[in-house]
Amino acid sequence: MEIVIVPDSTAMGELAAGAVADLLAGKPDALIGVATGSSPLPVYAALTRLVGSGSLDVSRARICQLDEYIGLPAGHPESYRAVLEREVLRPLGLPAGAFIGADGTAADLPRACADYEQALKTAGGVDLQLLGIGSDGHIGFNEPCSSFGSRTRVKTLTAQTRADNARFFDSPDEVPRHVITQGIATISEARHLVLVASGEAKAEAVALAVEGPLAAVVPASALQLHPHVSVIIDEAAASNLKLAGYFRATYDTKPSWQGL
Ligand code: GLP
Repeated sequence: MEIVIVPDSTAMGELAAGAVADLLAGKPDALIGVATGSSPLPVYAALTRLVGSGSLDVSRARICQLDEYIGLPAGHPESYRAVLEREVLRPLGLPAGAFIGADGTAADLPRACADYEQALKTAGGVDLQLLGIGSDGHIGFNEPCSSFGSRTRVKTLTAQTRADNARFFDSPDEVPRHVITQGIATISEARHLVLVASGEAKAEAVALAVEGPLAAVVPASALQLHPHVSVIIDEAAASNLKLAGYFRATYDTKPSWQGL
């Protein structure tokens, strides 16, 4: 696990976008797993700038989602499919066909979950999965006490996550209670995990995930078991890390031939 502490969320976005660009340079049709929420927005903005300046070609890239609300009507602006179309696909000029997603409107939800697992396998697996972290340590929508062995399935949101996400809806009651999420074992099959976090509100969750014990109650601590993880955080999100000095020194003296 590599922890990189950067001055602000713009630098965070640029570094993570650079990892995506490096991947696409070697594998133009890479499958990029994207996340919703505010944290990855600077990454999408940086990618859009790279595409706009002509230094990045994403035309063959494929995009897949981490999670999806259940119970929102198809096309609802806050369904994660719609959010990702708006924040990732359209700005990058990618067609709807580049997107692989889970169907939160399906009548048979266990089937929709199994279909999504299969779609990811058929697509060759996720090359790089971008992750945010919930204030309770969740990744995707794997809430505290999700099994490290979990696969894509239906989960119930905690009251805290529903409150955190209420800002996207007209009223807190509109936030769905149920979601489909890639499981922790599903997420862990991605070849490279890139977690981004900014702001003091994430400092505790980041410290528990990175320096705490492996514990299902902190789902993001499962990243400690993955062989290729980059945690890119700003100073505020790093403020609870005991080893921050070591992480800074390590990155400052990193050999230039080593990417993320
Ligand atoms: C939601 C998403 C997560 C995301 C989290 C944090 O719960 N399902 O993937 O990491 O929000 O969001 P934010 O970055 O807005 O704090």
